[in-house]
Amino acid sequence: MPRSGSLVQTGAMLVGAVFCITVLWGAVQPREDVPFDPVKKYHEHPEQVAWTHNGPGNLGVFGTFDRAQLQRGLQVYREVCAACHSINRVAFRDLLALGFSDAEVKAIAASYEVAAIDDSGEPTTRPATAADKFPLVYANEAAARAAQGGAYPPDLSLITKARPDGTNYLRSLLLGYRDEVPAEVTKPDTLYYNPWFHSLNIAMPPPLAAEGQVEYADGTPGTVKNYATDVAAFLTWTAEPKLENRKETGVAAIAFLLILTTLGYLSYKKVWRDIKKPKA
Ligand code: HEC
Repeated sequence: MPRSGSLVQTGAMLVGAVFCITVLWGAVQPREDVPFDPVKKYHEHPEQVAWTHNGPGNLGVFGTFDRAQLQRGLQVYREVCAACHSINRVAFRDLLALGFSDAEVKAIAASYEVAAIDDSGEPTTRPATAADKFPLVYANEAAARAAQGGAYPPDLSLITKARPDGTNYLRSLLLGYRDEVPAEVTKPDTLYYNPWFHSLNIAMPPPLAAEGQVEYADGTPGTVKNYATDVAAFLTWTAEPKLENRKETGVAAIAFLLILTTLGYLSYKKVWRDIKKPKA
């Protein structure tokens, strides 16, 4: 072998050896300088729940909303969450999709006041109509923070889309308040320990605290777990009211493609039937 070739070979081996030693050296270095992060230790992942809108096996392929559950979720939202959170992207008439009648939707709308201008041009308020949206709770973010001790209760219309695994996350968050705070976690007095929240401490006081807090009319037991589950389902619908249509379209498209593939294969067989015969 020529001299230059073996030189290159030796050089490459040297470079390789230096690389390996560096990697090994790095791997055995103590990691004392990494500060302890309680979030890494205590942050919890959402509990997985079988939702009717995720279809059989929670696969997410088929599935329809449970209308009665959405109505209960709306009730929890109105009686509890609406004190602090708006759902300003939802119009009252959208509630027809939950199985309410025209009259029921009008009655729900009329229980809210929205901004208006009177005949003399002065700002005033009037009862909402089916065409209005759920009103804001606070005029803007600054007003909300001023009223909530600096924290901002976000609009909930799209919240289940704005968080990973949003439906399960919301349910787990609502059920996730713990009185026992681990010694390694620093919790300011104004916050509440909740290992499902990204920073472990949340400014929202536990909104669902007692059995019987909301009285369901359909006989569903008024447990905190049911409240959390129902309001999570409801806020999944507000974030994606067309979920059922999307899934139907998907299933129809796959069925269509399967039929098309079968037809394509059969015509291929037919076209090539004679040509592929072995010559006599
Ligand atoms: C007393 C007022 C109040 C009530 C009632 C309330 N919240 Fe909150 N909520 C807050 C505040 C304040 C925050 C902001 C928390 C923070 O940033 O630490 C918040 C934050 C949230 C968040 C955002 C969490 C995140 O990941 O950022 C969700 C979701 C939420 N609330 C859902 C609800 C639901 C559902 C209800 C009803 C069952 C409810 N809240 C009732 C005050 C309230």
